[in-house]
Amino acid sequence: MPPFPDPRGGPGFLIEILYLSYNNIMRIEIEKMAFGGSGLGHLDDGRVVFIRKVVPGDTVEANIYEEKKDFAFAVAEKVITPSPMRIDAPCKYFYQCGGCEHQNISYQNQLKIKEDLVRESLQRQKVTTDVEKIIPSSDKEFFYRNSIRYSFLLGQDNNIALTRHQPDDNELVIVDACMLQSETSNLILRKIRDYINKNIEDKSTFWQLKIREGKWTGDIMVEIITSSSHLPNEKGIIAELRSISGIKSIYQTIAPGKSLINLRRRLIFGSPVIFEKIGFYTFQISPESFFQTNSEGVETLYDLIKKTADVKIGDEVVDLFCGTGSIGIYLSTLAKKVSGIEVVNQAVRDAKDNARINKIKNCEFICADSKKWLHQNRKIKINKLIVDPPRAGLSKELIFDICNSDFDIMIYVSCNPATFARDLKLFESNGVMAKKIQPIDMFPQTHHIELVSELVKSK
Ligand SMILES: C[S@@+](CC[C@H](N)C(=O)[O-])C[C@H]1O[C@@H](n2cnc3c(N)ncnc32)[C@H](O)[C@@H]1O
Repeated sequence: MPPFPDPRGGPGFLIEILYLSYNNIMRIEIEKMAFGGSGLGHLDDGRVVFIRKVVPGDTVEANIYEEKKDFAFAVAEKVITPSPMRIDAPCKYFYQCGGCEHQNISYQNQLKIKEDLVRESLQRQKVTTDVEKIIPSSDKEFFYRNSIRYSFLLGQDNNIALTRHQPDDNELVIVDACMLQSETSNLILRKIRDYINKNIEDKSTFWQLKIREGKWTGDIMVEIITSSSHLPNEKGIIAELRSISGIKSIYQTIAPGKSLINLRRRLIFGSPVIFEKIGFYTFQISPESFFQTNSEGVETLYDLIKKTADVKIGDEVVDLFCGTGSIGIYLSTLAKKVSGIEVVNQAVRDAKDNARINKIKNCEFICADSKKWLHQNRKIKINKLIVDPPRAGLSKELIFDICNSDFDIMIYVSCNPATFARDLKLFESNGVMAKKIQPIDMFPQTHHIELVSELVKSK
């Protein structure tokens, strides 16, 4: 059993001091995992307490640092009795970093926890549809992510470090690798940090670093996000990054006032896009576009969507929230027409290019808000309707229009079981029922859960 790390260590020191100053220590049994990746237990007075980085079945000594009327938050200081599910977390930053929540739980148990959470979110909404056994999306439990964002941190010694956020987003953790990233991605982190420290005196402009990879193509895109338009030693930075094989695209992204609104991108090396493969298809990715973050797992996800949709010759397919058009293109072989709807302009341009790159003629991509588009097109015949919204799920108006539109099968792809369950409740009250709910693990070691559900109109 691993010793529980001292929460006072590392760059989170100050915030931990604040927590500990409450000195309100209690012995707590962790009953289960809650949404968001915290363990859940009860205080002596019956209130629920949330504790991060613990394992269901642990008994821990925890320091309560925030109390509300009905619940509290605590930080675990010591594991008194470890859960049988507990394992050593392989990453040295695990207990400080907010990137993963479950590295100290064996993978089979992570899967079971996620499956139970899907069930629980449905029960909370009184939805009775069965949940299938969760499937892993690939056999890679680490090194699977194809993108990451770090923040630069300038120390008092004028050296720069790269950091991730702590679990509650309020403190930064200095890292020199991430175990969900490839070795090459970790090498980029270290190279750029060391280059800046050796060669650049005024480092104040460096704000964030984003790395994106095509895992199947080897293409890499690096975005250096600065708070001003001047990029010191631009040529040197480019030369340093180009020494790494696979670098296809380097951007300087200017974020005035360190805000992610109104970004201005400047391509400083190579191609404006990189490429990634899903199955037989090739997709282009721009810095602005969403792309599924687990390149190996996404093939399993899309195969599941394809099998569930069972597109027949002549089908009309609508793919709402289509991103770079990847699901629609993946399902397009037998369809008469696929219409993909996406609100981000650049993603729509990528989707059109992706159809062209894959020599696909039956897909159209429209830049529009999904809700508005479906409202205007609610009279058209749709054989297969795909919806893959962001975590917030669907609006009531869109659900209402879907229920009143003429579709045969709807596939709801969700990355948030809580909003999925909320939406399903509304679908059911409008006569659209889930036939099947299949969770799939796209994000090992983290609390994120993906699922694919088939919905049909009740007769
Ligand atoms: C979870 S991603 C799915 C993308 C795509 N289906 C895929 O598998 O890569 C959700 C997408 O919805 C887009 N989006 C968000 N709000 C939207 C809206 N109101 N109308 C259309 N698209 C929207 C986002 O830009 C993003 O590309």
